[in-house]
Amino acid sequence: MPHKEMWEGFFNPAQTLAVMGLDKDVTDAAEFGCGYGTFTIPAAKMIRGAMHAIDIDAEMVAQTKEAAGKAGLKNVNAVLRDFVAEGTGLNNESVDYVMLFNILHIEDPGALLREAWRILRRGGKLGIIHWNYDPATPRGPSMDIRPKPEQCIQWAREAGFSGPVQYDLKPYHYGIVLTKQGAIRRI
Ligand SMILES: C[S@@+](CC[C@H](N)C(=O)[O-])C[C@H]1O[C@@H](n2cnc3c(N)ncnc32)[C@H](O)[C@@H]1O
Repeated sequence: MPHKEMWEGFFNPAQTLAVMGLDKDVTDAAEFGCGYGTFTIPAAKMIRGAMHAIDIDAEMVAQTKEAAGKAGLKNVNAVLRDFVAEGTGLNNESVDYVMLFNILHIEDPGALLREAWRILRRGGKLGIIHWNYDPATPRGPSMDIRPKPEQCIQWAREAGFSGPVQYDLKPYHYGIVLTKQGAIRRI
């Protein structure tokens, strides 16, 4: 990760979250890989319930907790955990929104999407944000592992999600919102 000030200069988190359909209708949400809490903290302010923030890096968890404390937020549950090895630890159908922001370049994106499906309530939303598939972006994963939006949509469809809506999150990112429809699927 670049240092915090540089990373946070790439985004307008509150505006992005509003575009991505995170609002007061969401009760509980989870972010896989919260980093500095760039999106966790504004999301926690926007929702009514718990904001679960999971990261494998103790420093990222500490910074997210500190930012939540400074903002006076009581609903941020920042957890040190490897969600690839151990899953999120959240109950089936326990959140309304899952944030997969700048994370789907990992080795097994399908496993992450299936975990997102498992913890989402029916009718819940999955938000994906990633760096544009463009080598000119100032940061971002190397092009050989950086997913194109159509690739993310295909992976998400394979995990059971439907209804993708795509956004251009200028200047450097794209966003995709998908839904876990009401149909019963084995989890
Ligand atoms: C590129 S940062 C994105 C942070 C945040 N989502 C954002 O967009 O500002 C990815 C984060 O995911 C975390 N991460 C990567 N692999 C992980 C894993 N297996 N389990 C938990 N966290 C992980 C990293 O430590 C890092 O903080």
